[in-house]
Amino acid sequence: MEITDKVKFMSNDETDIIIRLKNLSKNFGEFTAVNNLSLDIKRGEIIGLLGPNGAGKTTTMKMISRLLIPTVGEVWIRDNGELKLLTRKNKDSLLDHLGFLIENPTFYDHMTPRQILSYFAKLKGYPKKKIRSRVEEVINMVELEGWIDKKVGTFSKGMRQKLGIVSSLVHNPDILVLDEPQTGLDPKARKEIRELLLKLKHEGKTIFLSSHLLYEVSEISDRIAIINLGKLIAFDTIRNLETESPDSLLRIQLLVLPTDIAKMRDELESIIKPHTGMKNVSDIVSYNFDTQVFEARFDGSLENQSRIFKELAQNKIDVVDFSVPRTSSLEELYIRLLSGMITIRNPGAEKQAKESAGIMEG
Ligand SMILES: Nc1ncnc2c1ncn2[C@@H]1O[C@H](COP(=O)(O)OP(=O)(O)OP(=O)(O)O)[C@@H](O)[C@H]1O
Ligand SMILES: [Mg+2]
Repeated sequence: MEITDKVKFMSNDETDIIIRLKNLSKNFGEFTAVNNLSLDIKRGEIIGLLGPNGAGKTTTMKMISRLLIPTVGEVWIRDNGELKLLTRKNKDSLLDHLGFLIENPTFYDHMTPRQILSYFAKLKGYPKKKIRSRVEEVINMVELEGWIDKKVGTFSKGMRQKLGIVSSLVHNPDILVLDEPQTGLDPKARKEIRELLLKLKHEGKTIFLSSHLLYEVSEISDRIAIINLGKLIAFDTIRNLETESPDSLLRIQLLVLPTDIAKMRDELESIIKPHTGMKNVSDIVSYNFDTQVFEARFDGSLENQSRIFKELAQNKIDVVDFSVPRTSSLEELYIRLLSGMITIRNPGAEKQAKESAGIMEG
């Protein structure tokens, strides 16, 4: 299939597409940092761009912002109901729809958040009379209201990062492109940013964010794009990626810890094994001594999950907790994809296109 066909295939409804990256490549001399990347971002969704250090995430975002010009390929952005090719001529008007946070934001130490945000809002043409209240509104979003008139020079890294995030959205753009918005933040601040991004999504914003933290991205993204060595290697919903994953993990916590762990393991193995949806796999069940739970591998399907649960109940196994950690299968898939152990054909083509293609083990 030609790449151009693939792009056409990607969306069932073209009018939902708000950003289209088409065969995007960036070379630095002989080195290809981004390699023929195509993906469509739809209105109102959060897309997580995931990949290890050096994968090409920042380079991709810089090409959207036109901080870098693609060596090959195109960026399309919706404007007045129409997808338009981003060019040198129209970049100022098209990019007004977007807010960017790319790499670590740097601010003048002697300036205050109020000054900085007012400056950005003005620069982006935000209505003059509304700037003051808008600046206060976005500062409240990240709970920095007590710092609005303090000099940035005294700010912690996390506070600067929060200021960076709101500086990208002070002009109230429809689309946010955020490069590692949670990097350098402590767990509490990371959670605050996660909640802020979800809130923005509910207000109708479209968000394209990068990270190398699988958990951070999978918690909030509607779809995940995984890139490695500049190439898109997967692009789908978390649910679909999980079912692509060779196996999922089921955690089973028993009411009473058995005196004979090995015997219990064997018993669970015989009960669960016929319902895992996996062929020719031995040692389905193992015991995790750290967490004191039994763990069973299965194909991740909801049907098998409920079958296993039913079988355990019928065999009078007293289960107090039964969980499928969301990220475990994704993590497994991520690692296998990055190591090249498995590949997904046609990453980016959606379910209907992928059903026939499936996943190749190799
Ligand atoms: N201006 C440049 N000149 C030469 N090489 C570059 C340049 N910018 C990026 N690269 C290279 O391109 C590759 C991709 O870099 P990029 O910054 O896009 O990765 P990333 O996915 O954002 O990584 P990280 O998670 O570390 O931020 C890297 O190997 C990097 O060294
Ligand atoms: Mg980067």
